[in-house]
Amino acid sequence: MSLSARVGKIGLGGMGGSGVYGPGLRDDALIDFFVQAMESKYVKNETLLIDTADVYGRTDPAASGDGDAVGHNERIIGQAIACFVERHREDPHVNESVCVLTKVGYRHDYSGLDFEEAHIRAACEQSLKNLQRESIDLYCLHREPLPEVWNQVLQVLAHLVVENKVKAIALSEPSMAFLECAYTFFENAFPGGNPLQAIETKFSLLSPNPLYPKAGDVLSDGSMVSRIDYCAKLGLSFIAYGVLEHGILTDKFATGVPFVPEAGDFRGGLPRFQGENFQANLVLRDRFKCLAQPGCTLSQLAQAWCLARARERGCDMVLIPGSSSLERFCENLAASDVMLSAEQLRALSLIAPTGGCGERMPSNFYSVSNIRFSPPLSSTLEDELESKSESPLHSLPAMICRPFSHSVSEVDGGALRDESFSIPYRPGSA
Ligand SMILES: NC(=O)c1ccc[n+]([C@@H]2O[C@H](COP(=O)([O-])OP(=O)(O)OC[C@H]3O[C@@H](n4cnc5c(N)ncnc54)[C@H](OP(=O)(O)O)[C@@H]3O)[C@@H](O)[C@H]2O)c1
Repeated sequence: MSLSARVGKIGLGGMGGSGVYGPGLRDDALIDFFVQAMESKYVKNETLLIDTADVYGRTDPAASGDGDAVGHNERIIGQAIACFVERHREDPHVNESVCVLTKVGYRHDYSGLDFEEAHIRAACEQSLKNLQRESIDLYCLHREPLPEVWNQVLQVLAHLVVENKVKAIALSEPSMAFLECAYTFFENAFPGGNPLQAIETKFSLLSPNPLYPKAGDVLSDGSMVSRIDYCAKLGLSFIAYGVLEHGILTDKFATGVPFVPEAGDFRGGLPRFQGENFQANLVLRDRFKCLAQPGCTLSQLAQAWCLARARERGCDMVLIPGSSSLERFCENLAASDVMLSAEQLRALSLIAPTGGCGERMPSNFYSVSNIRFSPPLSSTLEDELESKSESPLHSLPAMICRPFSHSVSEVDGGALRDESFSIPYRPGSA
């Protein structure tokens, strides 16, 4: 069964609930919100996909109180699930009404990435405890490891599946080479059913990059394909985050007014929220809005566009708009019913064909995360970064065909550590 057949086209991004857009809700109100979100799907006999990560939580010491630090988001969701399950304890299938995706890969002191087996295992145990679940529905690598350790990291994930701690695997922002490697690895390791189910990648009217092949990001046979087409080909689902461009594709901001972040709002560090970039992005937003049919809100239009573009490529897509307001969550759920005409779709796609103004992430983010975002078609900065980076293909063929052939003691996650982590952008909020 495809992911969207199980959880519907619209899920819920949990990150914002833990204060990354500013102070946010009190814990009891946040738990209540998640319970109500689960209820609103449950009454329709539907399952809610909730996206979180082990590191989502307030990291600003000034804003932080008890329970506000790393793991806060998972703990809140865990408490909400427990409350929801208790309410419906007469239903033997109530646990299946919620599907949780959580992520691993960042050190819990926010000092960089860690893909050593010891870290992944400890983080997995902690996430299970936080979420109060016996098994994680979708366990997602938050960032891509360096190619030297791909095989070892995939083995650790495979072991977690065998141990039933994890039901399925997802990869956040993978390069095509890593995706191909991981898909082949799990295909060989699990002949009875590949546990790699999805990738999670940013996709929006202002970040349309997954529709296009990315320069330098090639498969082992030298071919290039877009992420969305490759997911369609492999039968993987595409979980789209940032579908509202972190709030730009909504009515939250007035054109001409500068963005002034509240304390702890991670968008203060994003190039697209700075000065002229921000104003130019709001102008694009207003052009999109003009194309909405009566009764369709801007955020629904933005989400309907994502789903329509995936549909025309035959790709199974689930969106995870972030919110901690029940009203906006319900508005977002209704976006899956919005149908766009071919003319609307084409006109929307032509407004910002190369994406929004400004880089998606601060430039020093790349040295921390080892990911290479798909650049806008016109971008030269990321092409430059790409040409300087080592091709992962050197080590690919040997890795693809050797599932379970290395002992875990060979893992060298130390190679992934980057002590230069000191940017305003907080890893807990990505
Ligand atoms: N894999 C990764 O690396 C990665 C990176 C970033 C995020 N994520 C995941 O993706 C999820 C969503 O991403 P995101 O939160 O960064 O960006 P987003 O979904 O594009 O935007 C969220 C923003 O839009 C607002 N919003 C949501 N629905 C709205 C509506 N109907 N009308 C008006 N405003 C609306 C929210 O405000 P309110 O909260 O006030 O409703 C919030 O400010 C996160 O929660 C997280 O779980 C994953």
